[in-house]
Amino acid sequence: MKTYIVGNWKLNFTVGEASIYLHKLLKTLPNYRDLEVVVAPSALALQPLSLQVDRHKIKLAAQNAFYRDTGAYTGEISFAQLRGMVDFAIIGHSERRYVLREDDKMIAKKVAAAIRNHITPILCIGEIESERAFGETKDVIRDQLIGGLSEVSDDELSKVIIAYEPVWAISSAKSAKLATPDEVGEVVNLIRKTLMDTYGAKASENVPVLFGGSVNASNAGAYLTVPGVNGLLMGASSLILNEFVDIIEIAKRVRA
Ligand code: 13P
Repeated sequence: MKTYIVGNWKLNFTVGEASIYLHKLLKTLPNYRDLEVVVAPSALALQPLSLQVDRHKIKLAAQNAFYRDTGAYTGEISFAQLRGMVDFAIIGHSERRYVLREDDKMIAKKVAAAIRNHITPILCIGEIESERAFGETKDVIRDQLIGGLSEVSDDELSKVIIAYEPVWAISSAKSAKLATPDEVGEVVNLIRKTLMDTYGAKASENVPVLFGGSVNASNAGAYLTVPGVNGLLMGASSLILNEFVDIIEIAKRVRA
């Protein structure tokens, strides 16, 4: 299976800054086989960057989109409009769940809309600190996974990527803590088991599972060697070009 290194730029970089970053990254990176490097700029930058990017080296992801293809939805951008421009879309990120109040039902519709428009959804799931403290992690993960995939058929499961991002480990959290590789492994196993129980072994074995939450060049290697982890989803460290490149190099070494 490929290894995915995904940078989520969140609400950072102007279009100009995003373009300069991409230019430098394209110049630095060779053409990796078995390594998928993906960046998720703001929606505004996607169109110009899609003309600039060399998709053999780097792919683009949307950070979000709306679940209807067209219609009276002021302010929204659809997966249909992004079709052909991006290869991936981050869906159900905790910042959208908790700041913008997206629920599993809406997230499921977005996952379906992405697949319908030939865009690979990166479905983010993860528990908040109090849910972990109360021993609810398993239930939250199962609910978000099954809920987010509720409109995905057995045949479509191979078109989905799951990202486990414990909300308490995301660098923007007030008192972000690092997840230990053991904690990550435990939840990744649960994700794989839930997929297997729901979709069967064959359909679920090729679903990539990524980890995200304060990943940087010092801990990327440890997370990438957790069994069942197929890549990383990064926020803060993806904004620093040198660090992002270092992490890509680490991934290449560790997964070789
Ligand atoms: P950080 O890498 O800044 O913790 O962000 C993780 C994340 O939310 C990526 O989607």
